[in-house]
Amino acid sequence: MAQTFETVGVVGLGTMGAGIAEVFARAGLQVIGVEADDAALDRGRGHLDRSTGRAVTKGKLTEDDRSVILGRITLTTSREDLADADLVIEAIPEIMEFKRGLFADLDRICKPSAVLATNTSSLSVTAIAASTSRPGRVIGMHFFNPAPVMKLVEVVHTVVTDDGLAGDIAALARRLGKTPITAGDRAGFVVNRLLLGYLNHACALLESGLAGRDDIDAAMKLGVGLPMGPFTLLDLIGLDTSYEVCEVLFRETRDRRHAPAPVLRELVTAGLLGRKTGRGFYSDAEGAPAAEGDRRAASVSTVGIVGAGPEAAALVAALDGAGFKAVVAENSDLAPVGDADVIVALSDRPIVELAVRIPHPDRLAGLHLVGDDVAEVASTVLTSEETAGAVRDLMRILGRTPVMCGDRAEFVVNALLYAYLNDAVRMLESGYASAGDIDTGMRLGCGYPAGPLEMLDAIGLETVRDGLRALYAEYREPSFAPVPLLDQLVTAGVPSIREYAG
Ligand code: 3HC
Repeated sequence: MAQTFETVGVVGLGTMGAGIAEVFARAGLQVIGVEADDAALDRGRGHLDRSTGRAVTKGKLTEDDRSVILGRITLTTSREDLADADLVIEAIPEIMEFKRGLFADLDRICKPSAVLATNTSSLSVTAIAASTSRPGRVIGMHFFNPAPVMKLVEVVHTVVTDDGLAGDIAALARRLGKTPITAGDRAGFVVNRLLLGYLNHACALLESGLAGRDDIDAAMKLGVGLPMGPFTLLDLIGLDTSYEVCEVLFRETRDRRHAPAPVLRELVTAGLLGRKTGRGFYSDAEGAPAAEGDRRAASVSTVGIVGAGPEAAALVAALDGAGFKAVVAENSDLAPVGDADVIVALSDRPIVELAVRIPHPDRLAGLHLVGDDVAEVASTVLTSEETAGAVRDLMRILGRTPVMCGDRAEFVVNALLYAYLNDAVRMLESGYASAGDIDTGMRLGCGYPAGPLEMLDAIGLETVRDGLRALYAEYREPSFAPVPLLDQLVTAGVPSIREYAG
C-alpha cells in the first residue's frame, strides 16, 4: 500500500532547508524544523519569515494564511523530536561525514517505517543510505533553489531502495505542487549534471578572457532566454555548492569540462560564496550597472557589411534608418567595404581570415546577431579598440545588447549552448534519463524556456552538430565533439531527436 506522509522533519534550515520546510507547510503537512543550535535556528526562522513575508507583500498570501503556514512549523534544536516523523529530509552542508553521522542518528531516533531523505546536490545517496540499518528506506529528494518557486523535484533511488518508495515520494512531490522526475544515483543526477557542466564552462570562458562576466550573463539571459546568466545563477546556488558538484562530477566522469574552474576554487577559498555571503562573482555593494545611453558612434558615417541574404539586408535597412550609410560586400569580393569607417562581418565563425584580406583589418569586427535582442561583437587580434567600441555603440543604437567577445569558434552563446545540448544528447544516449525527463528537468528545475532536446530540435540537429565540430576543431576539447547519436541522426536525415527518442 502506498505510504502517506503527514509529519515531516527538515534537518538544516539554511536557504534550501527553510525553503523545503515552507513548501511542506504550504501543502498542509506538519513540519518539524531542526537546527544545530539556537543561533542557526534563529537564522532559519528569519528565512521563513522573509520568504512568507515577501509573499504577503506581493499579495500572494494573506496574513492569516501566513500564520497558518508558519503555525505548522515547529522549530527545535533536538533531533530526538523527530521520533514520530513519517519522513525526514536533510539539507545540511554537503560533507559526507556530517551526512552519514546524521543518518545514523536519524536511523536510531526515527520510527522503523519512517523514510529518510536527502536533498544532497552532489553526494552519493547510496553511500548515505549505507550508514543506516534501513538502506531500503533512504532516498534522494532533490529540490531546486529557490525551493518555493522551482517546480521540479528529482527523486533519486539507489539499487537498494525499496520497491514502490520512489513512486510514493514522487506522489508526495506532486502533493507539494511539484513535478517529480525519477533518476538513479549518478553524480549530479539529471539537472546538476547538465547545469554545472554549462556553468563551469562559462567560468572557463571567463578565465580564458573570451568575454567578461556581464557580457556572458547578458548573452545567455537575453540571447537564449534563460532566467539568469551563468554567473548570477552561480551566485544564487552558492559557489561552494557549485564547486562541490563539479568536483563530484569530475571524479565520476573524468571529463575536463567538469573539473571545477580555478576561479571557483579561488572565490570559495576567499570565502566569497555568492549571495549567501553578499559577494561572489557579483557583490551586493556593486549596485546596478550604469545605464548605457545612445553614445552615437561619432566617428562613423559609413559601415561596411560583409554578408549576404536577409540578415545583411535587414542590417542595411536598420543602419540606414539610424542615419548611417551602409555598403555591402560578399565574402568573395571584399573591395566594396575596403574604405568604410568600420566593417562588420556577419558570421557565427571566426573572422580573422577576412581581416587579413582587407586593407584596414583594424576596422573589422565580427557580428553575430542572436535572436532579436543580442549582438555578439567579436574582436580579432587586429581589431582596434575604436572599432570594437563603435560597433558596440552601433548595436546599442539599433536596440540590441552588445556582447563583446574574442574571435573564437561559436563566440559565446553557441559555444555554451551547443556544448550543453551535446551533454544532454550524451545523457540520452547513455540511457540514464528519458528525453521527457531531461527536458522537464531543465525547464522546471532551472526555469529554462525549453528543455535541451526541445532546443536542439528547434535550432536544427545539423546546425548544432556543425557548431560542435567547429568548437572541437578550435578548442580540441573531447566533450565538444558531437556525440555519436547526434552525428548519426544528422547522417540519417532524422529531423527530431525527440521523435527519435519516442
Ligand atoms: N523564495 C521564495 N520566493 C522567491 C524567491 C525566494 N528566494 N525568489 C523569488 N521568489 C519568487 C518571487 O516572490 C516571485 O513570486 P511571484 O511570481 O508569485 O510574485 C517569483 O519568485 C519571481 O521572482 P522575482 O520576480 O523576484 O524575480 P525573477 O522573475 O527574476 O525570478 C527566479 C527569480 C525565480 C529565481 C528566476 O530568476 C529563476 O527561475 N532563476 C533560475 C533559478 C535556478 O536555475 N534554480 C536552480 C539552481 S540549481 C539548484 O538549485 C540545484 C542545487 O543542487 C545546486
